Amino acid sequence: MPRVSLPITTERLTLRSFRPGDEDDVFAYRSVASVVRYIPGEPKTREQVADLVAERATAGRIELTSPNLTLAVELDGRVIGDVLILLEGLDGKDERQAEIGWVFAPDVAGQGYATEAARAITEAAFREVGVHRVWAQLEPENTASARVCERLGMRREAVFVKASWFKERWTDLAVYALLADEWPAGGQS
Ligand SMILES: CC(C)(COP(=O)(O)OP(=O)(O)OC[C@H]1O[C@@H](n2cnc3c(N)ncnc32)[C@H](O)[C@@H]1OP(=O)(O)O)[C@@H](O)C(=O)NCCC(=O)NCCS
Repeated sequence: MPRVSLPITTERLTLRSFRPGDEDDVFAYRSVASVVRYIPGEPKTREQVADLVAERATAGRIELTSPNLTLAVELDGRVIGDVLILLEGLDGKDERQAEIGWVFAPDVAGQGYATEAARAITEAAFREVGVHRVWAQLEPENTASARVCERLGMRREAVFVKASWFKERWTDLAVYALLADEWPAGGQS
């Protein structure tokens, strides 16, 4: 089983497992309607956030041993968002891919934190897990998320038209991707 050693530290951030005590920070962004507009589920209640933190705290506490891992992104002691990595093809090294995603608190937007965290999990996926491809899917109208992909150097490979039934409507779905031999790419901040 591939492993990613945690925590992952970047210039400004720490990516780590969730732990008890993160509830208030997570509730502050996961309860906001605009934050969950493009991600599954409704704004969360305090109780739902407590369950979510508890569930994630047990997953991959020290190392990534599960195909799906959501990491808390900490800035100066506060959880400002989370990043998700979904690994596919874990049985054989040659067939490994990773889907990545991100959710951040609105009050920290526009400072490059999501890009910095996404770059760190992309780096871990390529260098530590040895994946062949890192990809992301999103609604093209979620331009902030699309820009994160672009800053990582990802290629917009497809837009599937009204291909996803999401939140009671048909939505377009864009796929962005980057191959191992294209990383590190772009180098934009
Ligand atoms: C998607 C999301 C994480 C993007 O957040 P963001 O703040 O735009 O992204 P970053 O933290 O990477 O910040 C990038 C912005 O900071 C600016 N910035 C400032 N300092 C920076 C730095 N040191 N490094 C990089 N960018 C910096 C960039 O220019 C960029 O601004 P721009 O988008 O106007 O060009 C956020 O909108 C979000 O959480 N949305 C809700 C959840 C969601 O939709 N998730 C994705 C589902 S597919």
